[in-house]
Amino acid sequence: MEITSPLAHGSESPTYSKGNGPVHGGDGVLTSAMTPCCASSSYFSWPSSSSSTRRRPRILLQHLPPPSIAAIPIPSITSRLRDSTMAKAKAIRVHELGGPEVMRWEEVEVGAPKDGEIRIRTTAIGVNFIDVYFRKGVYAAPAMPFTPGMEAVGVVTAVGPGLTGRKVGDVVAYAGNPMGSYAQEQILPASVAVPVPPSVDHKQAASVMLKGMTAHVLLRRVFKVQSGHTVLVHAAAGGVGSLLCQWANALGATVIGTVSNDEKAAQATQDGCHHVIIYTREDVATRVKEITSGKGVNVVYDSVGKDTYKASVECLASRGFLVSFGQSSGKPDPIPMSDLASKSLFLTRPSLMHYTATRDELLESAGEVFANVANGVLRVRVNHTYPLSEAARAHADLEGRKTSGSIVLIPGTDS
Ligand SMILES: NC(=O)c1ccc[n+]([C@@H]2O[C@H](COP(=O)([O-])OP(=O)(O)OC[C@H]3O[C@@H](n4cnc5c(N)ncnc54)[C@H](OP(=O)(O)O)[C@@H]3O)[C@@H](O)[C@H]2O)c1
Repeated sequence: MEITSPLAHGSESPTYSKGNGPVHGGDGVLTSAMTPCCASSSYFSWPSSSSSTRRRPRILLQHLPPPSIAAIPIPSITSRLRDSTMAKAKAIRVHELGGPEVMRWEEVEVGAPKDGEIRIRTTAIGVNFIDVYFRKGVYAAPAMPFTPGMEAVGVVTAVGPGLTGRKVGDVVAYAGNPMGSYAQEQILPASVAVPVPPSVDHKQAASVMLKGMTAHVLLRRVFKVQSGHTVLVHAAAGGVGSLLCQWANALGATVIGTVSNDEKAAQATQDGCHHVIIYTREDVATRVKEITSGKGVNVVYDSVGKDTYKASVECLASRGFLVSFGQSSGKPDPIPMSDLASKSLFLTRPSLMHYTATRDELLESAGEVFANVANGVLRVRVNHTYPLSEAARAHADLEGRKTSGSIVLIPGTDS
């Protein structure tokens, strides 16, 4: 059965005002005061929408200067910018659903940006597990054939007619829709792009837009982690998992991580896990009971799904939160209400895009992430890079559980 991606949203997406977002412990307001470990987030000075009619985000962070073309670490950028009329580029295309081998390296038309749009030349592209779901048909792609990818950093090469607040040469990043970041060039609505601070390099930025904002939303809005909480993070050495563990530790929580092998366990420990469970050879629920003296954890962040959700429920303390946000091992079976009733548990299945639906929410979330990268709270692990044309190899490694941290595709390194 085809289902719609939980990341998919359009302009009709629900908006969240202060007060209706979180399911736990608060009001949904994102302020630096609630992130004691972090500098405040809002370095952005761009208009909050392409037409400049919407409210500007607050400017709080003094030590991050606005994005500057001068700081872009790409030697050939000037010559590239001159080529603002380029209409063709190479991209990965999927003509039929299936394994990594269905991804083909082809020439595509890019064209010129229309009203409200920008064209970017991508410099670093984040690979995410959701790209696998679309390639396999777990989520339905908007069209066939399609170019996968929902996260990229790039340099603006053209802006649509009448667009203000964006200019050729800006370095921007985006995460989510429109799908199609596995490409040398991409057209984007200007409203989804955020500026990348010069202190954050392109590979790092492409590693933290989608994954970092997911960590932000999960830790600060879906369930507000505080000092004294105990949290369980599955796939703790993965792209999202690594950032979740570092951030939860910085918030003062006791962090328990699960991983599949010793190498990943070592990384999870470095990333702030106080306890690591190797779930391929240890029983998760038993170990969590030992670690917590039988109390259980306040929240489980479960991205693995089918293989872990039963243990996740078992690991929770009374009135604990099961945050099911992915299904790397497959879709979890339905959870009977009675499983929740036994401990008055909460269950939520959040999607990043519902928490970054408005321009202000997007800027706040990206700002918190970039600020935490800049101030060292988040150490971005760009553990794997591949030429863009070799995206199939990246997917095979991701699905084969061979990767840890983030995976980035680099255009321009293709043979
Ligand atoms: N809801 C949202 O808005 C949202 C946003 C972003 C990401 N996500 C979800 O978060 C999860 C993590 O995404 P990511 O891109 O950072 O990937 P990732 O965690 O780097 O990679 C997946 C990891 O899951 C673990 N895993 C367990 N069983 C697996 C299996 N049968 N097949 C493959 N992997 C398995 C592996 O770690 P071990 O080897 O340690 O087991 C693997 O490295 C995904 O499920 C993704 O869909 C959700």
